[in-house]
Amino acid sequence: MSLEDIATAANGDKWFQIYLPNDRAFAAEMLQRARAAGYKAIVLTVDVTMTSNRERSTRLLGLPVPNLVMGNVPKTPGMTGSAMAMKGDLNWEDVDFCRTESGLPVVIKSLLSPAQAVEAERHGSAGVWLSNHGGRQLDNTPSAMTVLPRVADALRGRIPIIVDGGVYRGQDVFRALALGASVVALGRPLLYGSALGGAQGVQSVYEHLNGELAMTMKLAGTPTVKSIVRKYVERAEV
Ligand SMILES: Cc1cc2nc3c(=O)[nH]c(=O)nc-3n(C[C@H](O)[C@H](O)[C@H](O)COP(=O)(O)O)c2cc1C
Repeated sequence: MSLEDIATAANGDKWFQIYLPNDRAFAAEMLQRARAAGYKAIVLTVDVTMTSNRERSTRLLGLPVPNLVMGNVPKTPGMTGSAMAMKGDLNWEDVDFCRTESGLPVVIKSLLSPAQAVEAERHGSAGVWLSNHGGRQLDNTPSAMTVLPRVADALRGRIPIIVDGGVYRGQDVFRALALGASVVALGRPLLYGSALGGAQGVQSVYEHLNGELAMTMKLAGTPTVKSIVRKYVERAEV
């Protein structure tokens, strides 16, 4: 499916996630198409500058997968498929490029340190998305949840922090909020929900997590999301 197909298939605000193509003209084309299709922000994922060692994916290669094609092939005549190769040397100017070409706020995804988060803010990132790509990209990277408190201390609420990775329970959502997340994002739980029950399956994943979050808040004695702060997940002095 193309980004335009997805834009028209679902109501609600959408952000466009991009692995920046090496070909500047194609990159600009995609960013402009995202704006034209009504996306509200660009998510620039920065931890995939090359393919990583995904052994399960390699094992699955060759199995028949019907109807899966690259949806966002170049529209500009003369541009070839090779335009889609990813840029391997991402730098801070690429953030400006994404903002200028799309005219949209840019959120940098897959940062994992306070220094990077502060630098992202300095380069106009509208928010930072802490993620280790669900542990799929590079072994031994810290989890987003591990670095979250230090990033929150460094940013002090100046820009929003999105966190993902291993959020499978309402208690995980609670922990992320307590450690300083503004938004908690989900990857595989939604894919599993979708695989099992389509849109209804996705909805039920959200409902399940919401129920568990409400239970955790009751047991912790935090009546509002705002009142979920770090002391509720810190080790108690005994
Ligand atoms: C099958 C699969 C495909 C993914 N593709 C992308 C992608 O194209 N771009 C991206 O930024 N992250 C991608 N991710 C990472 C997710 O956006 C997210 O960071 C991660 O799944 C969060 O961890 P969780 O699955 O434990 O919730 C992918 C994850 C999975 C499982």
